[in-house]
Amino acid sequence: MVNKVTKAIFPVAGLGTRFLPATKSIPKEIMTLVDRPLIQYAIDEAREAGITDFIFVTARGKSALEDYFDSNPELEKTLARKGKTELLEQLRDTDMESGAIAYIRQREARGLGHAVWCARRLVSANEPFAVLLPDDVIAGRVGCLKQMVEAYQEVGGNMVAAMEVDPERVSNYGVIDPSDSDGRMIAAKGMVEKPSQHDAPSNLAVIGRYILRPEVFASLEKQKAGAGGEVQLTDAICAQIGKGAPVTGYLFEGERYDCGSKAGYLQATVAFGLARPELHDEFREYIEALTSLLRAAE
Ligand code: G1P
Repeated sequence: MVNKVTKAIFPVAGLGTRFLPATKSIPKEIMTLVDRPLIQYAIDEAREAGITDFIFVTARGKSALEDYFDSNPELEKTLARKGKTELLEQLRDTDMESGAIAYIRQREARGLGHAVWCARRLVSANEPFAVLLPDDVIAGRVGCLKQMVEAYQEVGGNMVAAMEVDPERVSNYGVIDPSDSDGRMIAAKGMVEKPSQHDAPSNLAVIGRYILRPEVFASLEKQKAGAGGEVQLTDAICAQIGKGAPVTGYLFEGERYDCGSKAGYLQATVAFGLARPELHDEFREYIEALTSLLRAAE
């Protein structure tokens, strides 16, 4: 029986340069899909999977994130006075209990692996922990991390979310070198961060959900620079292969949006807008009208 996964690390220290100038003053994780910030989707997914302890690896300029998770008594009072109970409930849904969140600072932008390593002192020996990259927003019947936590009970070790991508796009991802597969589980015999299409061992990309063993910190400790001159989480996970604990890719069920790119973010906005019952009809009508206009112009 593997230990329960109750802790999750959210690396949110990135500069968000792809969304400048907006990210000059707004952390990209606060950018909204409809009316909820990206980070809220990741938090909700983690809670659904049974996570109770949230570790944020932040950096300078990210204080709006801390404020977002704080209570806002003035706003609550005003909403209560005006009888806006529905809004008040929505607000309370996002409340985090005191002590549930820890913030760690990453002092220099040295890559995802380094950001995760910054949280090492908050994870105990023998305690598996999750990592969620809020740029990857995943819509599904059952949250991606919950699917993984369930599968993890069977295999333990280290697990990464996996998805097949267009071979032309492999160089944007960590890529799995598969040895064996069983249903949604793929045993990895290697992993490469951002390989060229020519060098990629497969088109099985790592998506931003991980369940890892704390031994990964020992590899990250070496702070060896990998792809792009950064300390890569993929390399540290790959280094675990053959050391007794398996590394498994999990083919999750659900639609993943790359909200770290403008096109992915816009696609997610459309999909999440359409999924909202209160917006669906009006939004769909607009999209249909727009589509026929575009067709007519072709
Ligand atoms: C990170 C990881 C990469 C993974 C990707 C998923 O890359 O380093 O292995 O495939 O997230 O979104 P980034 O997109 O931060 O460059």
